[in-house]
Amino acid sequence: MNIEWTKLPFGYFKTDYNVRCFYRNGKWGEIEVSSSEYLPLHMAATVLHYGQAAFEGMKVFMGKDGQARAFRWDENWKRINNSADGILMPEIPKELFHDALKQVVDLNRQYIPPYGTGASLYVRPLLIGMGAQVGVKPANEYCFLIFVTPVGPYFKEGFKPVRVQIVRDFDRAAPLGTGCYKVGGNYAASLRASERAHEEGFSTVIFLDAKEKKYIDEAGPANFFGIKDNKYITPDSHSILPSITNMSLRQIAEDLGLKVERRHVPVEELGTFVEAGACGTAAVISPIGEILDRDNDTHYILCKDGKAGPICTKMYNRLVDIQHGDYPDKYGWTEIL
Ligand code: PLP
Ligand code: COI
Repeated sequence: MNIEWTKLPFGYFKTDYNVRCFYRNGKWGEIEVSSSEYLPLHMAATVLHYGQAAFEGMKVFMGKDGQARAFRWDENWKRINNSADGILMPEIPKELFHDALKQVVDLNRQYIPPYGTGASLYVRPLLIGMGAQVGVKPANEYCFLIFVTPVGPYFKEGFKPVRVQIVRDFDRAAPLGTGCYKVGGNYAASLRASERAHEEGFSTVIFLDAKEKKYIDEAGPANFFGIKDNKYITPDSHSILPSITNMSLRQIAEDLGLKVERRHVPVEELGTFVEAGACGTAAVISPIGEILDRDNDTHYILCKDGKAGPICTKMYNRLVDIQHGDYPDKYGWTEIL
């Protein structure tokens, strides 16, 4: 194998195997190993028409010690079941999720990027409605699968400040909609806004709360946080995905002596932050250097020298060190696979 690990983008890279498990007649079957990248799908499957699709994203990191560590997979397991519950799909037992994860990582071990390359193995669990329906109803058959793919940084800038834009002419999720679940429809709803942002030279968009358009909601495929007065401030909203990275950073922020606030973050407050970032499994921490409010041409400059701020840098280093086994894992966030 000849992979240029340090040049990997965040994209699909074929690996050898994926694992699948089917839910039929009210129960889960056995885990099946597959080398096919395709699924046998009924043309009336609910995933195709009515969006019964939930997914997860987590990472496995190779340590200096040659051990592969999965980061907080149990939180991803809880969240996929919360998403499943939200769109009426069956629950995945913890043991099934864990066995599938272990098997798929084991079968593709050669694709775990080496320590020090900045790359990791991205793990993508997926749960979809496979059964046929024409009326708007949940399917009676489901497929749970996991594939893995080695990835580099989500934003091409890596750990460098990105430019983002606030949009008001698109909503990602309705106030009482599915924004808090990791379901395909939310991503479909975000495509137009994010493509336009890319065309206009921005890495991603900031969606505001759909009801009042006053508060920061989601930062594209990541949660938002801002730093000021030695505080880590992150939005509290029903329509954002409860990010596992954000949950970890709240702990890390406290460990680093910051106060944590989880509350509504009004747009105008952006002018008061000394640092800000977008956080997620794929994004890790992407420091935000500049925010443009597209509707009134206000520019919030959060970084003048093109470098990540000191607090973002400290939090990033601590997180990445825990993930790689370079800093004591005192909360039991990693599991060696
Ligand atoms: N928000 C959205 C919309 C996402 O897609 C993601 C990625 O999973 C996140 C936030 C960050 O969540 P996590 O840190 O659990 O990856
Ligand atoms: C992740 O961070 O894992 C995501 O799912 C974000 C995006 C690739 C959908």
